[in-house]
Amino acid sequence: MKRIPIAGPWITSLEIDYVNDAVANAWYDNANIYHFRFEKAFADYVGVAHAVSLPSCTSGLHLALAALGVGINDEVIVPEITWIATAAPINYVGAIPVFVDVDPTTWCICPDSLEAAITPRTKAVITVDLYGNMADYDRILAIAKKYNIRVIEDAAEAAGARYKGKNAGSFGDVAAFSFHGSKTLTTGEGGMLVTHDRALFDRANFLRDHGRVPGDFSFENSEVAFKYKMSSMQAALGLAQTERLDELIQKKRAAFAWYRERLSGIPGLTMNDPGLDVDATYWMVSIVWNESLRLNKKDVANALAQHGIDTRPFFSPLSSLGAYQHLPGIEACRARNPVSYRLRDCGINLPSSLGLQEVEVDFVCEHLRQIFLKS
Ligand SMILES: Cc1ncc(COP(=O)(O)O)c(C=O)c1O
Repeated sequence: MKRIPIAGPWITSLEIDYVNDAVANAWYDNANIYHFRFEKAFADYVGVAHAVSLPSCTSGLHLALAALGVGINDEVIVPEITWIATAAPINYVGAIPVFVDVDPTTWCICPDSLEAAITPRTKAVITVDLYGNMADYDRILAIAKKYNIRVIEDAAEAAGARYKGKNAGSFGDVAAFSFHGSKTLTTGEGGMLVTHDRALFDRANFLRDHGRVPGDFSFENSEVAFKYKMSSMQAALGLAQTERLDELIQKKRAAFAWYRERLSGIPGLTMNDPGLDVDATYWMVSIVWNESLRLNKKDVANALAQHGIDTRPFFSPLSSLGAYQHLPGIEACRARNPVSYRLRDCGINLPSSLGLQEVEVDFVCEHLRQIFLKS
């Protein structure tokens, strides 16, 4: 049986030509040419002054926290519904993650829940542009200003998404993107930190290379720091994908429209809602069903898997993970963040690869209709 994968890239001869050139020529004095081109092209696309290419988004979030000086026992607020990579770097710097609820329609951080969680120890919030959607940045930035906290955008899933005409990654003090193999723009593994702030950019550049400024060969390190770089072959791949990003996003939007057309008539089923003023990029087409349908998400996933259809469960609330059960007061999160717990039980991601064909969407939706109209 042919599988319909959950995610996958779109690679053309442009990517192959750039990577071939990098592997042949990007050495010695030319070692960084593709990094510079990729960083410049990506920063221009996002509309920020500075970009640093990295091995992952996780390293970007770690660097962002470290460069902002977030440290021991500081609190950093994160939405419940996200991959653990949003929160793990908070622990890397010795700070404490505080989990807040998400908005019931956009599934991104809820501004009221954010404001309610701020304490004198809060240093930052990490917003998440979930599944290619975007958070309510007008409200979030106003709250951040009111309480003097820093905003880090986890834009891992949202390259090219826009809120009020501005790109994901251009709102916070600093942002991080993922170029993991499943992402719309991929370098296999990889990430990018972006910022408007020159001082933050310099600090991130210093910290990401064992505490030395770019170009320094004295080997006299003044601080213990990190080694976070990508190879020139990855940067070459990323440059080609950035040059094609609009085309990649168009494909994602077309796939979402195919699904919406076929699923819109099913009662009790909702899909990614971009929210007001958002041009979403639909990294993952997702469905959430009404609790009253009494469908178990594992049963839905298994029924689709029997026909070769890959799905992913909606992210589980971070406060429900074994990894965080040691945090004091963690058991109170469930009652405080009901939307996140409801989404956990009633949501899955559908096949969303860049190679997805309309006939495959027909096939997936036919099986979904059978499951939902029977229930
Ligand atoms: C919301 C979110 N944040 C962070 C990451 C981590 O990205 P990476 O795997 O590049 O470190 C991911 C990856 O899937 C993600 O979805």
